[in-house]
Amino acid sequence: MHPSLSEFVTKCESIIAAKEKAADRVTMIAPLMQALSAQADQFLSDDHKRSEEQHYARNAIHIAPSGNLSLFALVWLPGQWTPVHDHGCWGVVGIVKGVLEERSYMSASGDITADSNIRLKRGGVILLNPGSVSSFVPNPDHIHMTGVAKVREACISLHLYGRNMNTFHIYDVEAGTRRLIDVPHHESR
Ligand SMILES: [Fe+2]
Repeated sequence: MHPSLSEFVTKCESIIAAKEKAADRVTMIAPLMQALSAQADQFLSDDHKRSEEQHYARNAIHIAPSGNLSLFALVWLPGQWTPVHDHGCWGVVGIVKGVLEERSYMSASGDITADSNIRLKRGGVILLNPGSVSSFVPNPDHIHMTGVAKVREACISLHLYGRNMNTFHIYDVEAGTRRLIDVPHHESR
């Protein structure tokens, strides 16, 4: 692993060990993510930059054997978006290239504890430029859709999660339902 990556992972592991609260963890990790994004040229391999024509690509950079964190490079071609989704853990996102758009949703029916009768209201939009960092904490979970407008260039973003991020809930806003799905990724050599 590249030294700036292993230093980042080591620092994140010690923050996780020292701080119990997700909000404290993301607060401390956000500036580290900003510094890591600025150095991405040094450690992003061709594997990490893979894109897919059909949907945004998730390329694994590091998945901790402990299962307590995972880091991915996401590659977004113009017009590629996630569904509306949650995360089930804290996370910190840093932008390497392009502009990533986040459209937020809020629960209008309190804590979401079942897969139906969910009322989501649309919230604000954030445009993240290279060097920008965004973060979220669960319970209540942060719900959003993320992507790149058709008129923009491709985007590469780094996503650190407080677990092995291989599932999330996707929401049908109109129907007021959600379901848990597997989220695939590419391994990196
Ligand atoms: Fe997300």
